[in-house]
Amino acid sequence: MTTPDETSADALVPLFSVRNVTKDFERKRRFGRKRGRRSRPALDAVSVDIYRGEAFGIVGESGSGKTTLGRLLIGFDTPTEGEVHFEGRVVAAMSRPERRSFRRRVQMVFQNPFASLNPFRTIRDTLSDGYARRRMSSAERSASMTELLARVGLNESMLERYPHEFSGGQRQRIVLARALTVEPSVLIADEPVSALDVSIQAQVLNLLNSLKNDLGLTVVMVTHDLRVVNFFCDRIAVLYMGHIVEVGSREAIMNDSWHPYTRMLISAAPNGDPETRSERPWVSSELGATEPPAEGCIFAPRCWLRQQLGNPERCTIEQPTARPILMEDGAAHLTACHFAEEVPQQAKAAVGA
Ligand SMILES: Nc1ncnc2c1ncn2[C@@H]1O[C@H](COP(=O)(O)OP(=O)(O)OP(=O)(O)O)[C@@H](O)[C@H]1O
Ligand SMILES: [Mg+2]
Repeated sequence: MTTPDETSADALVPLFSVRNVTKDFERKRRFGRKRGRRSRPALDAVSVDIYRGEAFGIVGESGSGKTTLGRLLIGFDTPTEGEVHFEGRVVAAMSRPERRSFRRRVQMVFQNPFASLNPFRTIRDTLSDGYARRRMSSAERSASMTELLARVGLNESMLERYPHEFSGGQRQRIVLARALTVEPSVLIADEPVSALDVSIQAQVLNLLNSLKNDLGLTVVMVTHDLRVVNFFCDRIAVLYMGHIVEVGSREAIMNDSWHPYTRMLISAAPNGDPETRSERPWVSSELGATEPPAEGCIFAPRCWLRQQLGNPERCTIEQPTARPILMEDGAAHLTACHFAEEVPQQAKAAVGA
């Protein structure tokens, strides 16, 4: 049994700790240590902690490295440099039994629910796999499947049907049920609602939220969609071209971000108010692929703040590392910008507030 003190101490120890992780698909692990941005790594010296029980969002544009980070967390890929720790153990160095238990405890859900279900297997067959290692009588297993289906908003009569007989939203519910058969403690969801209609997206996100609360899951939400992280996540990491540029609470990231890229991303989001958007200078720096600079801050070529501050040289010669910003409520907020303290004021000045 845990005392309240132990529980709160436990909450302070990261579940996942990503330490200085670089993933370069063109470079083999431990070889060719020469750096340089000619071939840009998918992730570059990324460090982040994820805590037990939180809904953690990883957000960024297409190609920013979100899926790569998710795959490294679950151990589907290994870092070229750096380490991913799970409960203090290096994922890439786990023994076979440790890895088996890790693979059970950490499950991943992908974007396309149709592609991740075998069209020739009934839902019962699909769910059975997860029970293979659990010692249960067939009656117990059936009862457990029924309960699981109810939990994800489906019913028993669907067990003998095939994936093509379901809608996209129902298929994603089946995928979630399959992930839950092994009783995981962590779900890594990579764009879990991007393939669904907007009205269905909210239902699936609500379902994920209640599963998280009822089962005490930690959920890592990988998405390009700011609405999803805003709806679902407690803390958010913003990725830009393989770099984590900012990590903070949902409120801080969505309402008072301390990084010029995050401000730009939020202002350019489709649900932003078009009238206020057009007044904001950073929207003009178009989102999309830009060659990363050889030195300095990766975001410098598109940075509205840098322009506003008269193009300081520091941005093009020194790469900023994530540093803590002291928030009024004492919350930890990390930002990788030399001039982060200027962001709120300059943003206000830019819109004439
Ligand atoms: N298996 C791979 N082999 C080679 N390059 C890869 C591989 N996987 C990803 N990449 C590259 O790594 C970079 C990051 O890709 P990743 O899929 O992680 O981005 P993402 O943020 O998930 O994008 P999206 O929103 O489009 O899913 C991209 O430049 C991509 O081309
Ligand atoms: Mg992706």
